[in-house]
Amino acid sequence: MKFKNVVGTMLICVFCITAFSGLGIAEESADAKPSLYDRLGGLPAISVVVSDFLDVMEPDSILNMNPAIEKSRYAVPKEYLKYQVTAMVCQATGGPCQYTGRNMAESHAHLNITEAEWDRMVELVTSVFAKHNVPEAEVNELMAIVGTLKKDIVTK
Ligand code: HEM
Repeated sequence: MKFKNVVGTMLICVFCITAFSGLGIAEESADAKPSLYDRLGGLPAISVVVSDFLDVMEPDSILNMNPAIEKSRYAVPKEYLKYQVTAMVCQATGGPCQYTGRNMAESHAHLNITEAEWDRMVELVTSVFAKHNVPEAEVNELMAIVGTLKKDIVTK
């Protein structure tokens, strides 16, 4: 084989490898699972679910038996909490938001939240997920993220 042909064949092979690996990448990104943020429906859906969640949390008589929780309810605007929790969920699920609020230990330390109150919160949020037909897989993924915050929120 002449030198020119050898170089030609090599170039074709390099082209083939590049083209195939390119295809591989394209296939991979087409198959890539959308972020939890996207699967939840992005900010429009997340903000509605968070808003409903805080609407059921705030007047809850079980949670409000804890005087520190009840006192904070009056001190901190619900709208502010809705904004911060939405931004947090958006960021934690892979969305474009930037959470700028306080960390969970700082913002809950004075509330003396117990294991039973945490369980009540899980019960309430589960009912809100059901109301909005959030699929089980997405609920489980989101609750796994929320679960990582428990050690900072439950202090009693
Ligand atoms: C039993 C469970 C919970 C209760 C009773 C509770 C209650 C509260 C209350 C009363 C505040 C206002 C505190 C203050 O500034 O005085 C607060 C702040 C906040 N909570 Fe919770 N919370 C609970 C769980 C959670 C969870 C699971 C999340 C996250 C998904 C969360 C996210 C936040 C955020 C982002 C703030 C605002 C932080 C800031 O002020 O910058 N909370 N919570």
